[in-house]
Order: sequence, then structure tokens, then C-alpha cells
Amino acid sequence: MKHYDVIIIGSGIAALQLANKLTKDLNVMILTKENLTNGNSYLAQGGVAAAVAPGDDAYLHYLDTMEAGAHHNDAKAVLEMTKKAPDLINGLWQSGCRFDEDGHGNLLLGMEGAHSEKRIVHSGGDETGRHIVEFLISDLPPNITVEQSTYVYDLILNHEKTRCIGVKAKLPDGMNEVYLAPHVVLATGGCGQIYSFTSNAETASGDGIALAYRAGAELADMEFIQFHPTLLYVDGKTRGLISEAVRGEGAVLVTEEGKRIMEGIHPLKDLAPRHVVSQTIYDYSRRGIQIYLDIASIKDFSSRFPTISKLCRQHGIEIETGLIPVVPGSHFIMGGIKTDLQGRTSIPGLYAIGEAACTGIHGANRLASNSLLEGMFVGGNLAGWINNHRSEIRTSDNMHIPVQNFYDGELPELDLLKQTMMDRTGIVRTKEKLTLQAEWLAQFQHEQWLYAALDHLSQEQLTRVFMYITATLVTQSALERTESRGGHYRKDFPYEDNANWMKKQIIHQRKNGK
Ligand code: SIN
Repeated sequence: MKHYDVIIIGSGIAALQLANKLTKDLNVMILTKENLTNGNSYLAQGGVAAAVAPGDDAYLHYLDTMEAGAHHNDAKAVLEMTKKAPDLINGLWQSGCRFDEDGHGNLLLGMEGAHSEKRIVHSGGDETGRHIVEFLISDLPPNITVEQSTYVYDLILNHEKTRCIGVKAKLPDGMNEVYLAPHVVLATGGCGQIYSFTSNAETASGDGIALAYRAGAELADMEFIQFHPTLLYVDGKTRGLISEAVRGEGAVLVTEEGKRIMEGIHPLKDLAPRHVVSQTIYDYSRRGIQIYLDIASIKDFSSRFPTISKLCRQHGIEIETGLIPVVPGSHFIMGGIKTDLQGRTSIPGLYAIGEAACTGIHGANRLASNSLLEGMFVGGNLAGWINNHRSEIRTSDNMHIPVQNFYDGELPELDLLKQTMMDRTGIVRTKEKLTLQAEWLAQFQHEQWLYAALDHLSQEQLTRVFMYITATLVTQSALERTESRGGHYRKDFPYEDNANWMKKQIIHQRKNGK
């Protein structure tokens, strides 16, 4: 049993920002299931949105965020984040994080979908996530310990089940270990891997969401999945993200014959909100028509987008032809573990930050390049909160060891889980398809997996449990929301239903017991 002041699970931008901002006398442990850089933050291409240009204003950034989020957003939270964004960027820049500049020491700014201004701060062209993560890692102070290849598989509550006081984890040698702390932070990222087409890292398997749900924390808005319009598509598989910044630089979506598919669909055309572009491409793919990003108008493509150029070449796509084959795929979950702007969940002592959390900032669909921003913003807020709320709790005195049965029932085969989620709980949903998926999922005994002891399972089995729990929650929420809004499109309810659903969150919470 090991004791800390703060345990952080995950190592993306939100986790690293938190770790760097905690006071240096706190004993902090970062537990990460692979290594420090194997996550979505590291892969982020586009950048960080902030109203730093002379003609821009945080209020315009706020308006764009609300519009993309279909006004389902928590307006006060969006206002706070968009106002803070320029300071967050300047703070990082001044402390030595490298961003792309013009020859005069000004930040170079990119354009992305649904933004009214150029405000995407980027680094290394399309290597923004990598550069920020590497900078934050290099800045970690000595009070932070990191254990890699350590897989957290359960949360520990106190005896009264009123507070989270620790975690159970699988160590690299397969042994189990208990880590206790008065502050436990889930920074585990999203769940893109529950879909067959995804831009996400292998590690984005919904672990934190499932952990929090099993512990009894409230989840919100699990139906709101963002499908990014442009994933590289080769040999029937998605091969990684083609950043929206590419369309920001002038690329357009076309058929093989060169017909522009976004003409007449939305006033912002190729830079319309992501759900509009994704649904349009999806319509073509259903009819067997391949869509391409036409990049011919972009000068020096490979120096502006080195990562994308490399990705294309790795998969045999010659960017010189000017056409990159694309399909939409899962990219981000707007819902997740319900928190406030300090990252506090409904269980004291348990926090969630980054994509695992639902702060309400993203509403029904996240505005491009607001995810790294939210991670930095809430990660920093949580550090402030913990720094001011030292805990006197003696965690080991009051540990609740629940009497749980082992359960060894069948789990869905992963490829099938991903494929059925894509087909039935994907870009275009209907009651029939969602019901089919809910029934298919139900055969694996969701309730059993919510209450069972997991100590004896392998990491591979645990990942499947967490993906299964998360997929079930997404499907149930998608069935419950009988309207279309943002990332959630129901063909049988194709419009926003403001009379019944305006700002209404769908909350899921596991029944207490056992
Ligand atoms: C992109 O570069 O298109 C992704 C950026 C984001 O999702 O915010």
C-alpha cells in the first residue's frame, strides 16, 4: 500500500498541467497505463484556440464555442475559459514552450471549422500536442513521481462510501497494488476506441469513465460523440487524423470527379461545424462514393503539415496528386464524468479533467482546438483548488473493501463491439439501430460487470470491460435523447427539440449497493 497527497491517473495535457501547477511540497503520483506520451494529447495536430490576434476578442471565441456546441454548453464556463485562453497561451509561451511564429516574433495563427477568426496557435506545423506535452514533461518538478505501464482498474472509497480515497492498479509484472490519497484525479482521456473508425490513440478506451461509473459518480451527456470529418482512409481502415487545419488552409472536400460536396450545405462550406461535414461525407460513403480532400491549392504542404505528409506517405498516398481519401470517425466525447470547473465530480475526493470529464464547456459538439485548451484550463483550476484544500484525511484508516463477487462471464469481441458501435450508434442514429445495439450489448450482462470484483482479470480483459461499459452508456444515452443536437444525430428526430431538450443533460449514475 502506497500513500500520496495526490494521485493522477493518465498523462495527457490536463494531467501534466495539473502536476506542474500543484505546490512543490505535495507528494504526487502519476499512474499511466502505457508511457507518458501514448495518448491523444500527444497526437493533437491542429492546435490551441485563443483570441490572441489584434482584431479578435474572447467574446467572439465564446460565441463560436456556443454555436458549435448547439447552445447546449454551460455559457458561464465557456466565458471563463475563452477569457482565460490568451493568458494560458502567453504563460506557456513565455515559460519556453515553442509555438510557430512569423519572422517578427508574432504567433502564427491557423483557421479551423466554425471559428469566425484565425485563432489556432500551433507548434511544429501540425505537431502541437507533441510539443506542448514534451514541454510540460520537461518541466515536471521533483515532487512528481511517474509510474508507467501501471493500469488503474478500480477506485477505492471510504467505509461510508462518501469519499474516494485511492485506487487499485495492475503493475507491469501483473501484481496488484493499492495507492491511497485524499485527492484522486481521473485524467484518462476519452473513448474513441469503442468505434471502428477513430482518430484516437489505442489508449483511449473509456477507462476513467467506466471507473467513475462503477464507483457511483454521475456521468453526463454520454450520447454526444464528435465524429471528425477527415480521417485518412486506406484499404478499408482509418489510418489517423487529417487535421481540420488543412481545410483551414484552403483544402476542399470533393468527389473523384472534383465536385465540391459542401457547396449549398452550410454557409461555412468546408469549414462548417464538424457534425455537418461528417454527416455529409457519411451520406456519400453510404452510396459507395469515396470523398477526397483536395489539397492542391496549399503551397508547401509538407512543411506546413509534416506529420500528415508522413502519415500519407506511410500509407502509400502521394500528396503530390493533391487528393487524400477520407472518411469520418470518432474523435472526441463531449460527455463524460460530470464535473464543475475545478474538476470536482459528484464524489468528494474524486476529480476528472480533460476529455474524461464533462464540464459542459463543449456542449453538444466541441469547437476545434478547444480540447487542449480545456485540459490546460481545468487542470490549472484543479491545481489551485487542491493547493488550497490540503486534506487531513488519513486515508488508510477508513478503507471500504466491498464484498464483491468475481464474475467471469463473456465479454464482447472487440472488433465486433467497434464495428457494431460504428454501424448502429454512429454518425446517423435511429431508434431501430440503437435498440438493436442495446439488445446486442445487453447479452453480456452489463449489471454484472458494474458490480463484480475485477482483481483477477488481465489488463486486456479489463480494457474490454471498460470499453463494454462505456459503449453501453453511449448507446443508452443516444436512445434516451429523442432529438438531434450537435454530435448526436437521430434520423428519426432530425431537429433540435428546444421545448423538451434545451440544456437538458442526460445523467447516468450507477445504483449504489452490493
Ligand atoms: C484537428 O486538427 O482537426 C483536430 C483538432 C481538434 O480536434 O480540436
